[in-house]
Amino acid sequence: DERTLVLVKPDGVQRGLVGEVISRIERKGLRLAALELKNVERSVAEQHYAEHAERPFFGELIEFITSGPVAALVVEGPRAIAAFRQIAGGTDPVEKAVPGSLRGDLALETGSNIVHGSDSPESAEREIKLWFG
Ligand code: GTP
Ligand code: MG
Repeated sequence: DERTLVLVKPDGVQRGLVGEVISRIERKGLRLAALELKNVERSVAEQHYAEHAERPFFGELIEFITSGPVAALVVEGPRAIAAFRQIAGGTDPVEKAVPGSLRGDLALETGSNIVHGSDSPESAEREIKLWFG
């Protein structure tokens, strides 16, 4: 089985959507291996999104992800990385995420799109280490 790092971002926690996210993960057949509510240190946020450091929205992204607590989850199961990306939906909640996905159903803006999911086995390993040590 595979493991992936899922975050319910500050907008999702603030809107009370942690249960909804966990429910969809569990209904898909994936399992929770770890779950913790965390205040996000700036250095953790910057390492988490290091691949976007040169993008024009990087400042906004770091401000947003450190703006309130996040729920960090390790999710496991067969093809967990791709399976959660499917549950999440595309990055832009209107143009890319399909109805039925978390972002497609519950978000409007790319900058506040409720959840994060690792995008490759290498990212998953790096991110699980970063968030859970
Ligand atoms: P994550 O799971 O959060 O990594 O999202 P993703 O893999 O679907 O998208 P990506 O890694 O490309 O971008 C990371 C995050 O940066 C996205 O989830 C968005 O919140 C944000 N982001 C990406 N592109 C834009 C953009 O053009 N404008 C703004 N404001 N935010 C963006
Ligand atoms: Mg990403």
